[in-house]
Amino acid sequence: MPRRFDALLQHRAAHETATISALFASDPARASRFSARLGDMLFDFSKTQIDAQALDMLIEISKRAGVETYRDRMFSGAKINETEGRAVLHTALRNLAATVTVEGKDVMPELRATHARASQFARDVRAGRFQGQGGAITDVVNIGIGGSDLGPAMAALALAPFADGPRCHFVSNVDGAHIADTLKGLNPETTLVIVASKTFTTIETMTNADTAKRWMAAKVANPAAQFAAVSTAADKTAAYGIDAERVFGFEDWVGGRYSMWGPIGLALMLAVGPEDFDAFLAGGADMDAHFRQAPLAQNLPVLLALVGIWHNQVCGHATRAVLPYDQRLARLPAYLQQLEMESNGKRVSMDGADLPYHSGPVVWGEPGTNGQHAFYQLIHQGTRVVPCEFILARQGHEPELAHQHLLLVANCLAQSEALMQGRSLDEARAIMAKKGLTGAELERQARHRVFPGNRPSTTLAIARLTPFTLGQIIALYEHRVFVEGVILGINSYDQWGVELGKELALALQPILEGKADAAGKDGSTRQLVEYLRG
Ligand code: F6P
Repeated sequence: MPRRFDALLQHRAAHETATISALFASDPARASRFSARLGDMLFDFSKTQIDAQALDMLIEISKRAGVETYRDRMFSGAKINETEGRAVLHTALRNLAATVTVEGKDVMPELRATHARASQFARDVRAGRFQGQGGAITDVVNIGIGGSDLGPAMAALALAPFADGPRCHFVSNVDGAHIADTLKGLNPETTLVIVASKTFTTIETMTNADTAKRWMAAKVANPAAQFAAVSTAADKTAAYGIDAERVFGFEDWVGGRYSMWGPIGLALMLAVGPEDFDAFLAGGADMDAHFRQAPLAQNLPVLLALVGIWHNQVCGHATRAVLPYDQRLARLPAYLQQLEMESNGKRVSMDGADLPYHSGPVVWGEPGTNGQHAFYQLIHQGTRVVPCEFILARQGHEPELAHQHLLLVANCLAQSEALMQGRSLDEARAIMAKKGLTGAELERQARHRVFPGNRPSTTLAIARLTPFTLGQIIALYEHRVFVEGVILGINSYDQWGVELGKELALALQPILEGKADAAGKDGSTRQLVEYLRG
């Protein structure tokens, strides 16, 4: 039986020598033909080796994999998260006017009610109607990890120009340094703590919550009164002593890493206000509508996914760099690491069979221009090819620093150009000759200055980073992950791979405390335990 990517692999083998530059030379309309738009958003994937036939084949693969059917099933509330027996409905959180039923039950009234309650709470905190025991809330500490941290933390930084509420801080790591450093400068009497945990059992979050409670108890009479919780486990939040008035629930059909659109986004809502939060939701809903309606060949999430499949499965590039030329998107790569790697880092298909190809790629990155002065060396001249995804905005938020934004944009465009064009040995020789070098030294120096070029990149350009466009971007990436997952035939919505380490950590705790024996452990672990016990 032919395997899913065989025909594409053959096509690639037959056309591998056609460089990206050659593709541009042979098609003057390449830039627009290998681009797609949604409103003001432009996705340009023309600086890749995907040609017209490859694109057709990729689209055909997505059709055969059932992307459209799965998409419609997801939006309709079908239980596409088969290994957990759950629907996947984070999209309902950002389209509160929709009608969505799960197992025949209309789930929207509850979503709307929770959204209204969270918005009212945010208004009360921001207006000083809800107060700490020492006055109006000045600081919010969101305690959560993974999906209960990365989304709101990433978005709060991204939307800093819109922040006009209390200062928001995010604590995730069980390393006491994180919470200690965060609480150091804060006043317990004017701090609100949000315990954000879908399960309300995550050890890092609950440990940090206990620490925050003790910190507050040293100064205020009733610490629980300055705690709010976001969770699916109302029984556990009640047992923790948090008043139901300040508990914001959601359902298990919202995956942790897809949950920032609902009450997990409370810290963001407190920072920017409910109106801007709603604009963020509207951006997500706008991308949902596009994803559901646009033909596959113009469908941004589908195209991003197909480019991803091309680079990972067909070209064999194991990693993908996300390079936002936007300092406020500094946490986007970390956010996308969870979104993409926890979703598509799976070794078996939906039915449990071994995948006959690789799982999703390693995702990493840093904002430009910082990365240029760090790891771009490898991207340009290393022996491995790293497909790069550039993200940038036409306009910044600092009109008085427009010249800096121009420099930022010039650098971003220069990188994708340099990656594609490269510099030949002859060009490098000419440069060395101009510097006065000759003979063997010229040759030696020239070889170090060769850039192989033909390195692929895509660019996602937006008008400006706003709540709405951020919502579009995040939903775009969510659906991209979904489409890649469907094409790979895996379940993008479970995360069993995080469990084993958690179990072993629990067993190691008593060993480290000296209450249990390390005898059953391997030699390396025993040695490390002995060393770390001191
Ligand atoms: O360990 C992984 C994980 O379950 C993520 O999927 C999730 O986002 C994170 O932990 C936090 O979980 P919770 O919100 O239940 O505390």
